[in-house]
Amino acid sequence: MNSSARSAAVGVFDSGVGGVSVLRDMAQRMPRERFLYFGDNVNAPYGTRPEPEIRDLALAAADFLASRGVKAMVVACNTATSAAIEVLRARYDMPVVGMEPALKPAAERTRTRSVGIIATPATFQGELFSNLVRRYTSDLCVLSQACPGLVDAVEAGALDTEDTAELLQTYLSPMIEAQVDQLVLGCTHYPFLRPAIEQIMGPDTCIIDPAPSIARQVALVLKQ
Ligand code: DGL
Repeated sequence: MNSSARSAAVGVFDSGVGGVSVLRDMAQRMPRERFLYFGDNVNAPYGTRPEPEIRDLALAAADFLASRGVKAMVVACNTATSAAIEVLRARYDMPVVGMEPALKPAAERTRTRSVGIIATPATFQGELFSNLVRRYTSDLCVLSQACPGLVDAVEAGALDTEDTAELLQTYLSPMIEAQVDQLVLGCTHYPFLRPAIEQIMGPDTCIIDPAPSIARQVALVLKQ
């Protein structure tokens, strides 16, 4: 890589503001890197759309970043990763890093043998998720809860409203009943709801946000 290619920005995209939760960790870990963020607010949420549509939207977002000369791309969206990561990797001659629901660390840490994951409906329907379940959690009780409405709440900035708290209560109650001790945030919008989630789940549940490990991975890829 010559020096002008090295100083190019890292492209990051999501359906909206969710990917900022990943950008935050990347900017902290790599303070000298430049980042170009694309949030496709017009088309959010992605997670309730059919897979081919999500793939097309992801391609359009990624093409935009590629046209701006980024040197690497981070798909800071579980839903878009699930629908399009392979197509994106085949399309560009640059590293493309995606999100992965953090079932592996959840499986390693659980004591109750009961782990929970919240994500968008499309993420649960994807092959990436079923492969991870098979690979890491086949001997555990896995509660997967699709959470339509939460992405809209985050996009609207409704982080601590009564409606959002009620929605979270509905989605998380079965997790408490099942004595889940690891809860994976499988959508990059959800870390913005972390205080509300922690309040419902209580101190005995560990909330796993994959952003720090994605930031670590991106730093490694850029070094290589
Ligand atoms: N941040 C996206 C994700 O990680 C949200 C998808 C959506 O727009 O529904 O899945």
